[in-house]
Amino acid sequence: MRTRITELLGIRRPIVQGGMHYVGLAELASAVSNAGGLGILTALTQRTPELLAAEIDRCKAMTDQPFGVNLTFLPTFTAPPYAEYIQAIIEGGVKVVETAGRSPEAHLPALKAVGVKVIHKCTSVRHALKAERIGCDAVSVDGFECGGHPGEDDIPNMILLPAAAAALKIPFLASGGMADGRSLVAALALGADGMAMGTRFLATQEAPVHENVKQALIRATELDTRLVMRPLRNTERVLNNAAVTSLLEIERQRGDQLTINDILDQVAGIYPRVMRDGETEAGAWSCGMVAGLITDIPSVQGLLDRIMEQASQIIHERLAGFTRLETSAGQAAALA
Ligand SMILES: Cc1cc2nc3c(=O)[nH]c(=O)nc-3n(C[C@H](O)[C@H](O)[C@H](O)COP(=O)(O)O)c2cc1C
Repeated sequence: MRTRITELLGIRRPIVQGGMHYVGLAELASAVSNAGGLGILTALTQRTPELLAAEIDRCKAMTDQPFGVNLTFLPTFTAPPYAEYIQAIIEGGVKVVETAGRSPEAHLPALKAVGVKVIHKCTSVRHALKAERIGCDAVSVDGFECGGHPGEDDIPNMILLPAAAAALKIPFLASGGMADGRSLVAALALGADGMAMGTRFLATQEAPVHENVKQALIRATELDTRLVMRPLRNTERVLNNAAVTSLLEIERQRGDQLTINDILDQVAGIYPRVMRDGETEAGAWSCGMVAGLITDIPSVQGLLDRIMEQASQIIHERLAGFTRLETSAGQAAALA
């Protein structure tokens, strides 16, 4: 399939794997790229720029297809050396960077100077327009459904995507709630040029996470996510568990007085324990509502093949069937 996103990124299928902390390692990123999409390594999962450089090398050994690196500018306890991570990305020859959190403006000149394509992840039309204005090549528009940080506006993709399509000139990815061929066709119908998925890729054979995490996604329904850290204006959609329930209780009790220190036990240092060690109840970890649509753990290649086949079937049979009916009804009316 060809869209403005496949052209921009040099990929065969308009499907991108969003950056995921402790998930976006070479195993998953290379599998997605080998299957025709764009896999993305998550920079800050690597504790130092040197370790990111090594992970980029590892990924290059596992795929000859393009892959990207996610650089997340989120409030962290100590600011990482972003410029050095960018240097590792550039020296590694990576051609696509997904930025998220705050504006990537300060880092764009370094990336653009060597022709790296920048996709900025946004949760609102105004932020997407700002990304376009400062020179990003594309945006990934994350609706309220998404796993991770949906922002503070709470606009679901059924509204956000057409609004973005009406406003933007640069290509964009629909992100949040995407799972299958229906999602891809819907994303294209709503004006996007492709889709990005996070949670769905977590439940694949190649995702380098503990089996407990994959099984938790299979068990989860669309009712099983919660929004945490809203009082800190750092809202995150996570899978519900006992730690999340107690986090929400602390938020309720502390009200306006809440600080990050009140909830450190539930949010700090959780990802390695969940993703690597399988302690799915250790604390809050990102998960989208789309968990309710996940019922299996396919290979990444199998997942992407299935998505493309289902999308093609929907476009050529189901939707084309409707327009044929419309045309024949119109012809019958004209003859009557
Ligand atoms: C476990 C997990 C970890 C994530 N970590 C990051 C991250 O470190 N940086 C980032 O920009 N987005 C992160 N995300 C968000 C994804 O890149 C993507 O935008 C989101 O998952 C899309 O919504 P979906 O889960 O409904 O597909 C994470 C998502 C999940 C599920």
